[in-house]
Amino acid sequence: MTDHAASGGFEVRLFRSGRIIAVPPGESILDVLLDAGVNVSFSCTEGHCGTCESRVVDGIPDHRDSFLAEDEKAENSKIMICCSRSKSKLLVLDL
Ligand code: FES
Repeated sequence: MTDHAASGGFEVRLFRSGRIIAVPPGESILDVLLDAGVNVSFSCTEGHCGTCESRVVDGIPDHRDSFLAEDEKAENSKIMICCSRSKSKLLVLDL
């Protein structure tokens, strides 16, 4: 993993509240949101079940899950926040 998205941190903006939360390298979006008190659903935390699916408003997800089909991943309109990251410095989620 040498690309920026794999090694670097990024920011998530919560579309509904406008909150911006930093996601450091090595931490999942899910963990950071839970730590920040954001109410999000999850189950497997490994990208298999689809429970944590969130809608992407803006930005480019770096899909790491095994739930979405390849064509769904290519649309970049939803993301599994338990394991996927971001290729863009800012990811805006419908949360
Ligand atoms: S919690 Fe299962 S895919 Fe994210």
